[in-house]
Amino acid sequence: MKTLFTPIHVGNLTLPNRIIMPPLTRNRAGVKGIPNELNAEYYAQRATAGLIVAEGTYPHPTGRAYTGQPGIYTDEQVAGWRLVTDAVHQAGGRIFLQLHHGGRLTHSSLLPNGVLPVAPSAVRPKGKAHTSFGKADYETPRALELAEIPQVVEMFRYATERAVVAGFDGVELHGANGYLPHLFLSNLTNLRTDKYGGSVENRTRFFLEVVKAMVSINGGNYVGVKVSPWKFLPNDIEEIDTEAIYPYLAKQLSLLGLAYLHVQLPIVTFDNQPDAPFDLAKLIRPNFQGVMMVDGSLDREKAIARIESGDTDLVAFGRAFLANPDLIERLRIDAPLNQVDYNTFYTPGTQGYTDYPTLQQLNAA
Ligand SMILES: Cc1cc2nc3c(=O)[nH]c(=O)nc-3n(C[C@H](O)[C@H](O)[C@H](O)COP(=O)(O)O)c2cc1C
Repeated sequence: MKTLFTPIHVGNLTLPNRIIMPPLTRNRAGVKGIPNELNAEYYAQRATAGLIVAEGTYPHPTGRAYTGQPGIYTDEQVAGWRLVTDAVHQAGGRIFLQLHHGGRLTHSSLLPNGVLPVAPSAVRPKGKAHTSFGKADYETPRALELAEIPQVVEMFRYATERAVVAGFDGVELHGANGYLPHLFLSNLTNLRTDKYGGSVENRTRFFLEVVKAMVSINGGNYVGVKVSPWKFLPNDIEEIDTEAIYPYLAKQLSLLGLAYLHVQLPIVTFDNQPDAPFDLAKLIRPNFQGVMMVDGSLDREKAIARIESGDTDLVAFGRAFLANPDLIERLRIDAPLNQVDYNTFYTPGTQGYTDYPTLQQLNAA
């Protein structure tokens, strides 16, 4: 029987355990989105993870979602990421980078020349954007022109090329939580009547084109994909035909020989997310030939059950990894976890970032 500590091949890597640090936006890369020594220290502290997937990173300035979010576009950003990948590799770890285009979940004040956010259709999200001057209502995005779509796909291809230069072991597409690729999947946010809208095949077209562009750089082994089926209320995204979209998408993704498919389940213990009416991992599992990862409100017991039942191959812990640099050791010996400080998720500096203690530090104190 497989356990959390049964090694596994993922892409070109062999992971010593099946516990993953998923992408966690922390907004500590400064106004120019250049990763720094502090970011390197934070990731290196967590290098015992089976795999780290570094936080959502914009492939192009027009896809930037947050102040302090890192990019992988300029030479300075690539050099900054090199600090991070070197530190993680020196600490014995493995690290992918998540490519994240904000879509409509950003604000013109964060974009070059103050342009409007873009989306498949001009549907305004409920809620507030995190701008450089505080919170502001989301704007109605500009619908992408048909002729522009190849340029957006190209951003992800180019970013993958840059990620290779920055020393990453792979890249992950952020296809979840209401950002650009996800917006194409839902017929509540995609009202297009061209070949990118309407049928399931059309609504998954952009998503698959992006993944293929990423795969074109270094093969399927170099690429993972993250999805969050059904609904993610904090970002105002919902689908009405989840059971049609994801089996089709998973089958198509299977053909690309990906490193993994990550399914984020509703995070029921955060932001009042409702739980799904059916098990989303079980919907996808039979349709995806490859390594599957699951997360969303897992604890040690649930994670073990998911791995042992064969429901998934990998489990990820978001908030727990953020607050426990030695999460792997704590799960191994079933030790208590540090409390998560929600107030410092996105604040600058070391507090709630690199200052969470390890068990060893706690015992020594
Ligand atoms: C502070 C924070 C930032 C996050 N940032 C991202 C992100 O950049 N990209 C992404 O795909 N998911 C992001 N997530 C979701 C996590 O990757 C993960 O799927 C989720 O937290 C798992 O649930 P858990 O925290 O209950 O383990 C974030 C979650 C948190 C708590």
